[in-house]
Amino acid sequence: MKTLTDVFVLSNGVKMPKIGLGTWQIADGDDCYNSVRYALKHGYRHIDTAAAYRNEKSVGKAIRDSGVPREEIFVTSKLQSHIKTYEGALEAFEQTMKELEFDYLDLYLIHAPWPWNEIGKDCKAGNIEAWKAFEKIYKDGRVRAIGVSNFNVDDLENVIKNTEIIPHVNQISFFIGNNQEETHHYCKSKNILVEAYSPLAIGFALSNPHIMDMAKKYNKTPAQICIRYCIEKGTAPLPKSTHENRIIENASVDFEISSEDVLFLDGIKDDPRRWS
Ligand code: A2P
Repeated sequence: MKTLTDVFVLSNGVKMPKIGLGTWQIADGDDCYNSVRYALKHGYRHIDTAAAYRNEKSVGKAIRDSGVPREEIFVTSKLQSHIKTYEGALEAFEQTMKELEFDYLDLYLIHAPWPWNEIGKDCKAGNIEAWKAFEKIYKDGRVRAIGVSNFNVDDLENVIKNTEIIPHVNQISFFIGNNQEETHHYCKSKNILVEAYSPLAIGFALSNPHIMDMAKKYNKTPAQICIRYCIEKGTAPLPKSTHENRIIENASVDFEISSEDVLFLDGIKDDPRRWS
């Protein structure tokens, strides 16, 4: 499938396969191991994990056991959201490398601008500290690209104005009904690639009547419409599934949604998590 081998080129020239397997909420052990193995077997070359998901060990093992050369797979992990110091970030990176048992990472992200249990807390100084550690890790050649996640325009500006390297990526919640126009527009203006996590709105988008109609029109499934929509918008979708058939389905998106229909989908402004 062509879309699995198509790449986005980050601002530093690093190539990132357009679709990745998301592993949020996949338990460590067999579930995570098998999902990653299925994905690699069916041509995925981009896997997204995080220290907070507590499944890095299984991701690393599945990648090693797959027989696919490490350098052919784009692997992302993330710094836990409560770690906002320079030393803390360096230590956490080493721990992630130990869990994955890798000697380099493709992309390392600050998981959120604030700890998940204190959403909205002002951590501007801490994000600058953590980012300086990311710059060191990057300059040391341990990671091929660095970025952030869940950052809004203010959070991004704080880092950009006070540090040297502009983040290569911002990974945000992005799906039909939640296309984050302001953040996306800002990212585009700074050449920051947006990655779309929860492209299916954690499954809720799949029963939306507009998306179901669109799926019929294109003879595709609602999941395929949601994933293709992200690609049409220039974002990298990271659909999560533990089922082999769905992992295949989610990457079978070698079709185009017309610009008219993308505009229609852009016009859906309700968060699908409230549709059901
Ligand atoms: P499962 O892991 O049991 O397959 P998101 O990527 O937006 O976070 O959505 C993930 C949710 O959507 C999970 O509950 C996942 O369940 C489900 N899901 C993933 N792919 C599909 C698909 N092709 N069809 C139906 N549900 C899917």
